[in-house]
Amino acid sequence: MHRIRCLAAAFLLLLLPTALLAYEVPKEIIIKRPEKNQPMAAWVKPVTFPHGKHAVLNSCDSCHHEESDRTLGQFLPCTQCHNKPTVTETSSFYMAWHNDSTHSCLGCHRKMREAGKMPPLSCTRGCHKKTEAQ
Ligand code: HEC
Ligand code: HEC
Ligand code: HEC
Repeated sequence: MHRIRCLAAAFLLLLLPTALLAYEVPKEIIIKRPEKNQPMAAWVKPVTFPHGKHAVLNSCDSCHHEESDRTLGQFLPCTQCHNKPTVTETSSFYMAWHNDSTHSCLGCHRKMREAGKMPPLSCTRGCHKKTEAQ
């Protein structure tokens, strides 16, 4: 009897690290603009990003190119690094989303569209949606 309990305890200990490293996959994210980072035009509204849907359709590291190791259980927000207010540098807020690379929203959507895998999304219909008050 004692032996069985020992085995059960050992088994639970084996499971523990996996439980501790569990991570969440947010469903919807309103992307926060870093401080001192002004929108380029009045129509550029905050983006509500259907994250959960994307995370089902694409591997995590298709976007989280840094710190995307599941065993670390850590997925850093893009804006922790991409926060500069310029529109040319890769490290800018703007270029994380509007870049030819498929890590960026526009880059991946463009590639998918060219492959006939998704309809075109315009700036204001797709991402920077107008709120009802406007
Ligand atoms: C299509 C791109 C894309 C895919 C695929 C994706 N993510 Fe994300 N994820 C993002 C973006 C963009 C953010 C918001 C970053 C920001 O606000 O700076 C985010 C944020 C997160 C956050 C919140 C980070 C924080 O502290 O604010 C977690 C956790 C996360 N993702 C986990 C995952 C996991 C796990 C997967 C795979 C199962 C995944 N993501 C797949 C783009 C993606
Ligand atoms: C830990 C810092 C860090 C995080 C977090 C991060 N990036 Fe990056 N990212 C970089 C660096 C550094 C580069 C390379 C910059 C250069 O080449 O000038 C880069 C490059 C890029 C590029 C262009 C080149 C390429 O390899 O695709 C895109 C697009 C991009 N990141 C999007 C994202 C998105 C989207 C997220 C969040 C899902 C994210 N990044 C999270 C640091 C980070
Ligand atoms: C790796 C590829 C990839 C990246 C990166 C990506 N998307 Fe997408 N996105 C897709 C695909 C594929 C679809 C079409 C999904 C479908 O068929 O419903 C889509 C659809 C969408 C839609 C329409 C969703 C709907 O419910 O109709 C929005 C909005 C969107 N993406 C926003 C974003 C934003 C914002 C980012 C960057 C933060 C982003 N996407 C990054 C692949 C990507």
